[in-house]
Amino acid sequence: MSEILLQIDGREVKAKEPMTILDAAQIVGVKIPTLCNHDKLESYGACRICVVEAETSGRKRLVAACVYPVEQNMVVTTRSAKIDKTRKVLLEEMLAHAPDSVDLRKLAEEYGADGERFEKEASFCILCGLCVRYCAEIKKKDAIGFVDRGAKREISFIAEIASRECWNCKECFPLCPTSALQAAYVLTEALAFPESARKD
Ligand code: SF4
Ligand code: FES
Repeated sequence: MSEILLQIDGREVKAKEPMTILDAAQIVGVKIPTLCNHDKLESYGACRICVVEAETSGRKRLVAACVYPVEQNMVVTTRSAKIDKTRKVLLEEMLAHAPDSVDLRKLAEEYGADGERFEKEASFCILCGLCVRYCAEIKKKDAIGFVDRGAKREISFIAEIASRECWNCKECFPLCPTSALQAAYVLTEALAFPESARKD
């Protein structure tokens, strides 16, 4: 593993392949907001709230820190008017789904995001994929997945698997940054779980 030297908000950082910008920022205590990232899961790059500006060979671009790999002599900026505005708009879009989410509201306050800017969306899910990936990667059960496409895309429990596996697990619940997951579970449980499948 070769050492990679880069700069994050003016601080020199010694990183290694295959670290991401987020990993490198954590080494020097630079905080970058995240919503779809989890230490135990593969990086996913869904929410984009971790957007930062990365400059390499004189070229600057906005990238997702949780998936973008560090590069030699890269110069990273984690806060600027442009970055903050991008995060603000992303939060406004997510707040249209989950206006009461504590995580989103905390970030909205920091970035001045207006929760009323976009019309409310029917689904509370912000498609971060934490629940789906946790169930697949850690529990190896695949009891939950994405359904539909585009604006209709959301998560759904697979009733046959969920009725066997979820009742005694529910480890994905605290990962959800909105209340979408619990609501989907309760609905699945009410509609599809046979009473006999439950074990207290
Ligand atoms: S239900 Fe929650 S954890 Fe699952 S993808 Fe949607 S927002 Fe993320
Ligand atoms: S935390 Fe990086 S894209 Fe979600």
